[in-house]
Amino acid sequence: MKRIKIKELLLTKPEGQTVTVKGWVRTFRNNQFISINDGSTINNLQAVVELNSIDDETLKRITTGACLSITGELIPSPAKGQAVEVKVKLLEILGDSDAEKFPLQPKKHSLEFLREIAHLRSRTNTFSAVMRVRHAMAFAVHKFFNDRGFFYIHTPIITGSDAEGAGAMFRVTTLDANNPPRNEDGTINFKEDFFGRETNLTVSGQLEGETYALALGDIYTFGPTFRAENSNTTRHLAEFWMIEPEMAFYDINDNMQLAQEFLQYLVRYALENCAEDLEFLNKRAQEEEQTKPQEQRSELGLIDRLKFVADNDFQRLSYTEAIDILKNSNPNKKKKFQYLVEEWGVDLQSEHERFLVEKHFKKPVILYNYPKDIKAFYMRQNDDDKTVAAMDVLFPGIGEIIGGSQREERYERLLKRVNELHLPEKDLWWYLDLRKFGSAPHAGFGLGFERLILFVTGMTNIRDVIAYPRFPGNAEF
Ligand code: 4AD
Ligand code: MG
Repeated sequence: MKRIKIKELLLTKPEGQTVTVKGWVRTFRNNQFISINDGSTINNLQAVVELNSIDDETLKRITTGACLSITGELIPSPAKGQAVEVKVKLLEILGDSDAEKFPLQPKKHSLEFLREIAHLRSRTNTFSAVMRVRHAMAFAVHKFFNDRGFFYIHTPIITGSDAEGAGAMFRVTTLDANNPPRNEDGTINFKEDFFGRETNLTVSGQLEGETYALALGDIYTFGPTFRAENSNTTRHLAEFWMIEPEMAFYDINDNMQLAQEFLQYLVRYALENCAEDLEFLNKRAQEEEQTKPQEQRSELGLIDRLKFVADNDFQRLSYTEAIDILKNSNPNKKKKFQYLVEEWGVDLQSEHERFLVEKHFKKPVILYNYPKDIKAFYMRQNDDDKTVAAMDVLFPGIGEIIGGSQREERYERLLKRVNELHLPEKDLWWYLDLRKFGSAPHAGFGLGFERLILFVTGMTNIRDVIAYPRFPGNAEF
């Protein structure tokens, strides 16, 4: 018999028809009630074994974690909280699971423990819900851009340019680490390496993306991104996914508008298409909140927070205005910030960003026009000679979720900045070329996909929203 997914089955009218489901046992009670889940939905199906219909040997093998195929009659359920159940006619054990050894028990496990068994945490309600939401968000990213006539460009993972300066890089090499070829002065001779030069894993697809925006108009990238910083935080991964749209003829204001519409679209998509998973995650986040001291609890629950972001304009604020607010803020005056804000020009720490978003404005904030010295070389220089047309979108509970800018499209200006910062002009020849041949105003931004998933699922550690997190000291699995 053809297998039917539990998600579909739970919506089917029960008329005693014969159905087959396959999935993993969550619980087995009274030698009679099997709660089975196949990952298609957060909801389990109840399968009822009639007394004496299955031999004792088989009954013993129905344990938490075992994989079963069940064929039976779909009938209305007399039990509360479920419309249908399956009366078992045929039961086959596809994969045994030794109850003594299976690490997942039908009880709450800590997220820390689950990280150590990341190959099995996918079988829990929390991780399957997170991954279904993650899938929906990836799909919605493509839908948003496709509906607006953007083209998806696959930029390279291995890159020969390390000019972006977005972060420390991972080297890609086939040289023998124990015995690399050397130049006469003792340095390693990368001319003999696989690509005939030094190469790294990409920190961003932006620079390559720009070359296609200035040809196809509106493009985006969506791929893995690597940063070798030693950041052991709940917001950083060494391998994460980033979405980078790049638009010809956009200025910084168009860019901010697109960023807001994009984020609101994604949040709305989740509310409309992931309702059951979000309800589960909402409850889960609520329980977690209860364990925190009162003053650290957030005012809104997960779903209310999502609705709020979907329905309200983001606050736009220049860096200069932000510094004024921060300088005069209570935590600054009372020296509660770890980093006190004393002068214009300092980089903002996440405590400052979170103060603006969570305490001052109580809504997402887009900060723009940052000092040029704390931002990347490619950002468009403003007429004040002090700031660049940068923008960061700051979210409650997350901090920076998007970073972007209008790009410097004027050749002379860009070249001057490259040289001021001692960037390798010879590696950037193609990027500079863009400004020589048919240059155009353009802008773009990068959305950290896992930070979006953190926000949408209400999870609090970025290691719990990607299947196999990569971070300093860890590449298990
Ligand atoms: O602000 P970033 O470094 O910007 C860029 O890379 C630009 N090239 C983007 C562009 O304009 N096309 O990174 C963009 C976003 C951040 O706002 C953050 O959400 C995420 O990427 N991000 C990380 N997410 C997880 N782990 C890390 N180590 C991250 N570093 C950045
Ligand atoms: Mg940034």
